[in-house]
Amino acid sequence: MPASLKKPLLIDQFGRTVDYVRISITDRCDFRCVYCMSEEMTFLPREQILSLEEIYCLAQCFTELGVGKIRITGGEPLIRRGALDLLDKIGHLPLLDELVMTTNGSQLSNCAEQLKAAQVSRLNISLDTLKADKFKHLTRTGDLNVVLQGLEAAIKTGFKRIKLNAVILKNRNDDEVIDLVNFALKSDIDISFIEEMPLGVINSHNREEAYYSSDEIKADLDKHFNLEKITETTAGPSDYYRIAGAQTKVGFISPHSHNFCSTCNRVRLTVEGRLLLCLGNEHSVDLKSVMRNSNNDTELIKKCIIDAMAIKPEKHEFNLKEQPIIMRHMSSTGG
Ligand code: 5AD
Ligand code: SF4
Repeated sequence: MPASLKKPLLIDQFGRTVDYVRISITDRCDFRCVYCMSEEMTFLPREQILSLEEIYCLAQCFTELGVGKIRITGGEPLIRRGALDLLDKIGHLPLLDELVMTTNGSQLSNCAEQLKAAQVSRLNISLDTLKADKFKHLTRTGDLNVVLQGLEAAIKTGFKRIKLNAVILKNRNDDEVIDLVNFALKSDIDISFIEEMPLGVINSHNREEAYYSSDEIKADLDKHFNLEKITETTAGPSDYYRIAGAQTKVGFISPHSHNFCSTCNRVRLTVEGRLLLCLGNEHSVDLKSVMRNSNNDTELIKKCIIDAMAIKPEKHEFNLKEQPIIMRHMSSTGG
């Protein structure tokens, strides 16, 4: 159903309508990116995470509350057994307008076709570097070639749009921003640059020292490309530009340097069934307990989701200088 015909039911106390939910279906990942995880990670035991049936039930509740867009994330969503069947079921929910996914690309060679069949319309694929040794260093366990093959498979499959996500760290990959944009141009896909966010404790680097702002990246790119500002707003945190004469869009996600909270239209569901009202705050509601204690009473679950809107914070509170106040890693949150 077109979003314009839907009655918004999820409205917070600042008048923002929530019509977009990001659902993390696993906290596990086959990579250990330095900004996301520490080398040794303890993942959640099975009984603590939502079952695939529970995730589907919550996704359905959200669509019945006016949510038109769902993003499936992780960890790496495609390494959860049964992920493709779940995507297929969510993708066919009658009230859903759009199913999208964030992935590290490691499994795409095998399943790009199935994702398309599951109605996944757009993919965000993480890619921070085009150098194999640096890729290994940044992801600790990843293989650049496997990801590039996955990306190629996805491009051939013909999604509505594919976007690369690149987290840029000073003195690690800040020298690659031009190459990454050229790569996106050549592949006829989009790219977003992301400022590192202080989510969870990591041990590989000092986040303040590694901070490379969107403004610096933009200044680097301006020397090589003609970036035209795209004025239409996407209600998202990205500031978008188009490369003159090309389809490729370049986005900047800048939690530190630009505050994007006033247009926030999203909430997140962690794999533990916690409804997170803001990426940069701990305000949450434990939907798993509501579900399990009520024998999946969907009316009660929907009421809890509506009530949760009252505690959606006005803005996030990131501070690079202090220890993270947000102890969860991006992998448990759903990027
Ligand atoms: N800060 C910024 N981006 C992060 N990602 C993971 N952890 C962080 C972090 N601490 C990115 C991944 C992926 C997206 C979902 O989030 O690289 O592209
Ligand atoms: Fe995995 Fe993505 Fe985290 Fe990297 S950033 S470890 S690919 S979840």
